[in-house]
Parts: sequence; C-alpha cells; structure tokens
Amino acid sequence: MVQNSETQHPQTGDVPVASLSPEQATKELSWLATQLNAANTAYHRDDAPDISDATYDALKRRNAAIEAQFPDLKRQDSPSETVGGQIAEGFGKVKHVVRMLSLGNAFDDDDVHEFDQRIRKYLGLAADALLTYTAEPKIDGLSLSLRYEDGKLIQAATRGDGETGENVTNNARTIADIPAKVNGAPDVLEVRGEVYMSHDDFTALNARQAEVGGKTFANPRNAAAGSLRQLDAEITKSRPLRFFAYAWGDLSARLAQTQSGAIAKLKTLGFSTNPLTEACDGPAAMIAHYKGIEAQRANLGYDIDGVVYKVDDLTLQRRLGFRSTTPRWAIAHKFPAELAWTVLEAIDIQVGRTGALSPVARLRPVTVGGVVVSNATLHNEDYIAGRDGNGDPIREGRDIRVGDWVQVYRAGDVIPKVKDIDLARRPKDAMPYQMPARCPECGSDAIREEGDAVRRCTGGIICPAQAVEKLKHFISRTAFDIEGLGAKQVEQFYADGWIATPADIFTLRVRFSEGLQQLKNREGWGDKSAANLFDAIDEKREISLARVIYSLGIRHVGENSAALLANHYTSWTAFEQAMTAAQIGEGHAWDELNNIDGVGAVMATSLITTMQQEAERASIDQLIKELDVQDAEARATDSPVAGKTVVFTGTLERMTRAEAKARAETLGAKVSGSVSAKTDILIAGPGAGSKAKKAADLGIETMDEDAWLSLIGDA
Ligand code: IVH
Repeated sequence: MVQNSETQHPQTGDVPVASLSPEQATKELSWLATQLNAANTAYHRDDAPDISDATYDALKRRNAAIEAQFPDLKRQDSPSETVGGQIAEGFGKVKHVVRMLSLGNAFDDDDVHEFDQRIRKYLGLAADALLTYTAEPKIDGLSLSLRYEDGKLIQAATRGDGETGENVTNNARTIADIPAKVNGAPDVLEVRGEVYMSHDDFTALNARQAEVGGKTFANPRNAAAGSLRQLDAEITKSRPLRFFAYAWGDLSARLAQTQSGAIAKLKTLGFSTNPLTEACDGPAAMIAHYKGIEAQRANLGYDIDGVVYKVDDLTLQRRLGFRSTTPRWAIAHKFPAELAWTVLEAIDIQVGRTGALSPVARLRPVTVGGVVVSNATLHNEDYIAGRDGNGDPIREGRDIRVGDWVQVYRAGDVIPKVKDIDLARRPKDAMPYQMPARCPECGSDAIREEGDAVRRCTGGIICPAQAVEKLKHFISRTAFDIEGLGAKQVEQFYADGWIATPADIFTLRVRFSEGLQQLKNREGWGDKSAANLFDAIDEKREISLARVIYSLGIRHVGENSAALLANHYTSWTAFEQAMTAAQIGEGHAWDELNNIDGVGAVMATSLITTMQQEAERASIDQLIKELDVQDAEARATDSPVAGKTVVFTGTLERMTRAEAKARAETLGAKVSGSVSAKTDILIAGPGAGSKAKKAADLGIETMDEDAWLSLIGDA
C-alpha cells in the first residue's frame, strides 16, 4: 500500500460510514483520493500496480460509501469521477468520441440480484417480465479501442482516463487478432475489447526476458500492458498479444438489435470473441453461468477476474444509460480472492449471551475476496489447539499462536475464518494459547463442562457482556423487534445505565419523564424520536407467548422450540408453573416437558435451570409484569395440517418465514428445513430451487403460498 508520513491512514477504515463525523469523513476521503489516484497512476500509466485489485476495489467502495453519506464533502479530484489513470508521456493523445467506461462491481449473488432489481425498477419492468442478459468472462488485460473507417483500421487507442487515451495504432497493427481490414462493416466502426497475454506466452516471455537480462513481468496483465505500450512497435510485434472484442464505441450504423447480435456480427467481421459468452434469462441463469466459468477458470489459459453481465436488448441499454463512470446496464461479477495470509496479532475473547467465551483472531488487515479483513473467528479452544470436537487432529494437529502467519478465508458473507498456519514462519517465542480461566468482562470463573466445546462465564446477569448480548437478543427482529431500538441503542443505553435487563426497557418512558431532556440531548435523539421510541416500546407489551419464551435467550431454546413450548403450555402461567415445579431428570413435570416433540433432555435441563435460578427468575418476573402475554391457541388437532410435516422454500410474499412457521406449528404441523420422504407438503414461493425439484422427484405435494393459506383457512 502507498503510504508515507503525509498520507497516514486516518484510522477510521473500520468505522461504519454512518458513524463517521464530517471531520473524519473529510480526512478519510482525502486519504482515499491519495491512495486511489496513486494506485491509478501505478496501474494505468506505469504498468506497475502496487496494490491488489481487491484492495483497490475495497478502497473504491469505501470512498463511494462515504461520498454517498456526505455528498457535500465529495472532492474536486474525487477518485469516483476518474476512470483509469493519466496518460503516459511519449504517445500521441486520442480523444475518444464515445467515452471508454469502467464497470461497477458485484461481489456476491445478492449484488447480482440487486443489479437486476435496480434495472427493473429503472425501466419499470415487473419482477417476472422477461429480461435477458449476456454473461461473459471479464478478461484481465487492458482495454483498447480500434477505429475503422471504410473498413480500414485507422487508429487504436488505450483507455487512458476514459476521455483521452494513448495512440498505439502502430503497436495494435502488430497483433494478429486485430484485422487490418474488415468487410461489410459500417463506414465508421469502433471496436472495443481487451488486449491480453495467454499463460503460456507469458511464461515463455518471462523466460526469454530473464535469459537476456531484461525486465520480467509480475503477471500476464502487466506483460500485456508493457508490451502494447512500447514506443518501438517492433518490440510489440515480438510479444504474443491477443485481443477479444466485447464492445463498441462510435458507429455510423448500428450493428444489431441486441448485445449478443452485435458480438456475433463482430465475429463475422473477423474479430475474436469470447466463446464463453451466453445469453441468460435472469440472475439465476447468470449466476449459474458465472459458476460454470469459475469452474473452468484454471483451464482457460488466460486470466479472467470475473464475469460481465450486460442487458442484451440494445434499446434497453440506451434507455438505461450511464452513471458518472459506469453503465447502468452492465456489471462485473468479480471472483473472490478467497484466501489470504496475514499475521495473527492477538486473540481476544468475546462473551456471548449465554456466557460462551469465543476466541476472536485480531489480524493484521488483509484483503480477502474484495473485503478488508481484520478479525476472524477461532471457534473455541479445541480449534486453536488443533483438534476437533472428538479430539481428532485438524490442520495435522498444528495449533494457532499469537504471532503466527495464518491463512484466512471468507466463504460468502459470513465471519472470516482461519484455515491454516505457517509453522515455518512461527516466531521463536510464540507460546501455545491458553484460554482464560476467568471471564475477561466480569472476572467470574469461566468453566468448561464435560461434553461442552466452549468455556462459559459463570457470572450470569452480573456479567455486563452477557447482559448486553441478552438485551440485543431480546430486541432482535425475531424476538421483541422494537422499532427504533437496535443493537447500537441498546449498547448506548446499557453503557449510560438506563437499561440493565429487558424489564427496564418497559419502564423507560416513566423514568424518562423527568430525564427526557437527557435522551433528547443525545446525538440522534429529538423530541419526536424519543416519543416514537416510547410508543414503539408500548406497542410490544402485547405479545405472543412464543415470542416471550424465545426472547428470554435461554440456551438451547430457539425460535422453533419456543413455539413448541408455547403451543404445549398455551399460557405464561402454565409454562412458568411447570418450569418451577420441574425437577431435572424425574417427575411428572420433567416427563411432560420431555414428551413434547422436539424437546430433549438438554433443552429441558437448560429451561429448568434458568427458570429456577434466583436472579435470572427475578429479572424474568419483572419483565412479565410489564407485558400482556397472549395465550397460544391450543393445538388444533382438527386442522387439515395437524401432524403433517411441511417445508417452506422460496420467497414468502404474504408473511415472514418466522411467522409462517409459527402459524403452521400452532395448527399442529411440524415444520422442517429440508425435504425428505417424510415431508407431506412443500410450500414453494418464488425463487424455489433444489427443494422444489427434490419434492417433485419424491412426488411430494407442492403448493404455493396462496394455496397453503386457503388450506389452513387464512386466505
Ligand atoms: S464491457 C461500457 N466486457 O473491464 C462497458 N469490459 O472494469 C465496457 N473488461 O474497462 C466494458 N472484460 O477493460 C467489458 N467482457 C468484458 C470485459 C471488460 C474485461 C474490462 C474493460 C473495462 C474493465 C472494467
């Protein structure tokens, strides 16, 4: 990374954009402009990139996010306004008649769906209207614009800054894939595409260069750029460059009605076009093609760094037009840089809602799959020690130590993980990691019980970390889901001493009638937002029994189990009395609890222990006093779905998944996550994929959401 004393990182890179102050944003935008402009120059002008593409992309996204949040702070020299770099001296300049643009990036499947949705929204197309895209490899080379007049190549220009490029006509004429003449083309034809070098040619070139003591290249892209931009065209001629055509600029007549038609036309004119280009009807097909290309990537013989999607219909492309530097009708779906090596600088312990001590790797920041990673999970002490839950070795038994070089990976959007360590680079004084015997948050004993993979803090509600995590769980979307009260507010209120337990949330209004000024004066809170918050809290006093049980955050009691318990006991009083009366391992109450389908001894023990633990129970009783808990409907054994196993898949449009599940269970159905021979009904919404196919193969009754609602009488 380009860094010197004047351009020190402003230290806000990890701060969410929404939390930046204008001063911090100004500083970081300045830093980003310096970094990105220097990187542009290094890459485009000097053919000597000094940061990885993924780091570049991450910086660029951060810059765009800050500019979106603080539009007034956007700089004159904003890197979001430039494509590529300044042009090198030594070549003549060419002003592009049609600007040469860059592409926006997609990093995961969601981004691809969003791209499609943005386009539909922009065009006013229904979600199910047919919209075809082309999908083709994104060639990792440098772009070139070739101008033909009356069928003859008259000019070739690099992209430069997008407006003005370098005249490399003589060099381009030496490339075999670039025809000097074309027959049957419009009078004016600008063909655009990528100059690249194959892996074999790159290896051979570097070997030749090394032999004669010449410059060797870091990768095929640099070799292609360095070879094309030679002031002496004879040198270019000696370098095996290739060219794929994938776009066009200035035209005197249109090539076709569609992107795919235009590319086919370029092919008939004698240009090389990429054979992996395919028309796809929507994101699912695009992503499938992306995966297909990714699978072939290693065997293509040339570098690609993603897949480019383009709206096929050229009339729609025209309607969609451009943003400042990128077309709205195209996007590059990048391949993730999935693995990276970095230094493990420290291991911190995070304490969860149930007291679990989770080791977290603090890493020297590194870009993995387009994202800067500085933390990764280490799971538990066995994982660090190099063994799995059964005591069998993982990583051939190599343990993880602070100071080690570790290999990190990101699979999708989940928390990054540590995959391996490099023993050869282990510092001599690195010590085996020891899990703390006390909770780092409250100092209580941290104990690992027989059969438990994790060590837990025994502090219960006296532990501030557990208390805050419990509160966060309590207000989460599937629990109390109070509008305006998110994790951030909960942390703030806890730190300020306003709430310590869930019950405190419901006494906020009363306690604040005097202290309201305090809340109002806080950043982000006004008269109206404070009043809205109290109203939103009051709205949730009336709540279902299932949600209450789930919201308590009792270990092993998830949403599903909470619904089962609610259906069984039907009222808070019955539930609370049963839990108070029960003895672990024996008696009627124990048996009754264990006989509920889906409740086992582990969950039963956890429930009873929690409900009988004095401090915990006092806090729960306080909460219940504030609420109006709605009884669950008795399990309707006469419902048409009682006793049936049902599976939901695809998008539900009339209700959330959690609600659909709870409703089905109320009616006596068992909701499962996967389709098997035991499944009775599959409810398939839009986007249903493999589950629907499996159900069809197994001959399982499948219905849409509306049919399901009328079956259960909710239509
Ligand atoms: S289309 C107006 N298609 O990627 C959009 N670009 O990151 C024009 N690239 O500047 C670009 N393969 O140098 C397009 N199949 C492909 C591409 C491709 C590589 C390059 C091109 C572009 C850059 C954007």
